[in-house]
Amino acid sequence: MYKQSIYIQTYGCQMNDYESDRTYRMFHENFGYTWISDPQKANLVVFNTCSIREKADQKAFSTLGKLREAKAARHDMVIAVGGCLAQSQGQDIKKRFPFVDIVFGTHQWANLPVLVQKVKEERRTFSELDLFGWQNYAFLPNQKSNLSYPVSDLLTIQNGCDKFCTFCLVPFTRGRQVSRTPKDVLEEAKAMVAKGVRELTLLGQNVNAYGVDRSGEITFAELLRQLSNIRDLKRLRFVTSHPSELTKETIDVMAESENICEHLHLPIQSGSNKVLQRMNRDYTVEKIEDLLGYLKHKIPEIALTTDIIVGFPGETENDFELTLAAMKKFEFDDSYSFCFSPRPNTKASNWKDEFVELKVAKERLYRLQTLQKEMSNSLRSQWVGRNVEVLVEGRSKREPDELTGKTRRNQSINFACAQDLTGQLVDVKISALIANTFKGEVLNNISLPVLVA
Ligand code: SAH
Ligand code: SF4
Ligand code: F3S
Repeated sequence: MYKQSIYIQTYGCQMNDYESDRTYRMFHENFGYTWISDPQKANLVVFNTCSIREKADQKAFSTLGKLREAKAARHDMVIAVGGCLAQSQGQDIKKRFPFVDIVFGTHQWANLPVLVQKVKEERRTFSELDLFGWQNYAFLPNQKSNLSYPVSDLLTIQNGCDKFCTFCLVPFTRGRQVSRTPKDVLEEAKAMVAKGVRELTLLGQNVNAYGVDRSGEITFAELLRQLSNIRDLKRLRFVTSHPSELTKETIDVMAESENICEHLHLPIQSGSNKVLQRMNRDYTVEKIEDLLGYLKHKIPEIALTTDIIVGFPGETENDFELTLAAMKKFEFDDSYSFCFSPRPNTKASNWKDEFVELKVAKERLYRLQTLQKEMSNSLRSQWVGRNVEVLVEGRSKREPDELTGKTRRNQSINFACAQDLTGQLVDVKISALIANTFKGEVLNNISLPVLVA
């Protein structure tokens, strides 16, 4: 049999990146597929979609349309569309793009090889959109792949969400929260480290609620502690944390474990308690202030980042100004901000009478992002002249004389170096801030032992 090729187009969050990567490994390891960079020529094209905001939907649709002709001309091509958009709008996708062979939901990744095989044998289309529920949800299996891993990689530990924030589609697309067994997580983490991974980012839509669905078997803090003890794992991070689930125990483990980085992404969404309540975010600005106070007390140099939604239904100018005030007070190193986008099935999408005019929402977004840029720049500038630990991820693509990596606070840094120090921790002096990236100079006397991956 000749070698089959696969192309995966990924949209959305890091959980999608992880699923696409594991799906490729699964097809490569078990069925001999090889990666191809041109979807028009692939035997199997997989779309891993996102539906968080309306823009995300549109992106996938336009790329999918471009495959119509290639698919009509070729009989050896299978197209599968999966992920969150497929879960929420699977039937529409089938209607708009009848040439798609498989539409599959977020709980069907592990079944994809079977579905592809069925298409080849039965020459018909499939639509698999069932959410299996807690007991039967299957995470993509750990692979014993011979493929390499990057120095810094992702590891999903939990899927789904029980929070039902009134704007958010995730509980509908990924279903209820399911935590992987601690055994599976530890096994996969150890296997990745044995293959050269030095930094792991744990993933979950509500990552610090890990374990609450495993009836007291383990807490997130305990899992973090166990992972932080893996030999040769230099750095550990996790996203995304929900403020209501961030326990003091977790903060204590972060402070005590040397390899847990000084960085936390903590989406607050708004600075108005009225808006937070209507978002069903079950915390207040005062609670955030307490949490951040404890965090900064325990981990003084922590870098904080957040997500903000502007123009949530009913948000007044005064509510928005409370958000600006919160941003100034909490001094986030960076933030991701979006205009509210009504999503099907969510509560807030029904509050049409209170929708904020798009023009007003966009103007608020601009004000917020301008403030953030000024703050980010001023906070980052304070680091110029300081020495930092850098995990080297490889050569810079733009400047081949330079190595590129991240600081513990998750900021990118490039520095000139002839030797290849990929995978190593290097002390670097920050010499300048250019756009959002630091430039630095190596401090180590470079005669470091080469790590065997
Ligand atoms: N689980 C994470 C967020 C995941 S979605 C948490 O609870 O924080 C990533 C971000 O997208 C959210 O933090 C939110 O700011 C934004 N977002 C989600 N739904 C949205 C919507 N309907 N409109 C605009 N932004 C949205
Ligand atoms: Fe969505 Fe809220 Fe769950 Fe985050 S916590 S995934 S915003 S429902
Ligand atoms: Fe998008 Fe689903 Fe992730 S909606 S952000 S791909 S959880």
